[in-house]
Amino acid sequence: MNNIILTGFMGSGKTSTGIRLSRRLQCPFVDTDRLIEQETGKKIPRIFAEEGEAYFRDLETKTLKKLAEGRERRIISTGGGLPVRPQNRPLLRALGTVVYLCVQPGTVYERLRGDTGRPLLQCEDPAARIREMMAAREDAYREAAHVIIQADGMTFEEIIKEIEERIR
Ligand code: S3P
Repeated sequence: MNNIILTGFMGSGKTSTGIRLSRRLQCPFVDTDRLIEQETGKKIPRIFAEEGEAYFRDLETKTLKKLAEGRERRIISTGGGLPVRPQNRPLLRALGTVVYLCVQPGTVYERLRGDTGRPLLQCEDPAARIREMMAAREDAYREAAHVIIQADGMTFEEIIKEIEERIR
């Protein structure tokens, strides 16, 4: 399939890049978190609080399988933890070209400071949590990716240009 799938840690710019890329390529944009919220009628923090993370991870895998049924080309932004489950990595790659937006922990921290929508970062020391989680996930992101973009310090325009050049 010829979708473009954006992966990367929370705050790496998947959604902002994806929306702009979808306008540029004139194809629909979807976000796995929003699909899950629509399906369940609940916001992500509420799903985590009421059902737990394992349940949310099952929903992510189900969402990937459903996306595979689509026929038209889409830009798909994914939840930051989605590539961590091993079975999701081949599912992601089968959907199209997987682009990993790689950023430094400090960039994420600055962007998400004060954010309350990410349950996994609601802790005493979010900077340390970001560093630990990123280090633990790095191999999974790389394994799932066809294209890796070092996105720190790049504008969205530059990121989109690089994606276009590298998926040609
Ligand atoms: C998560 C990332 C979030 C969302 C959930 C869990 C993670 O998505 O899926 O809070 O495990 O990294 P974003 O990457 O869009 O913030």
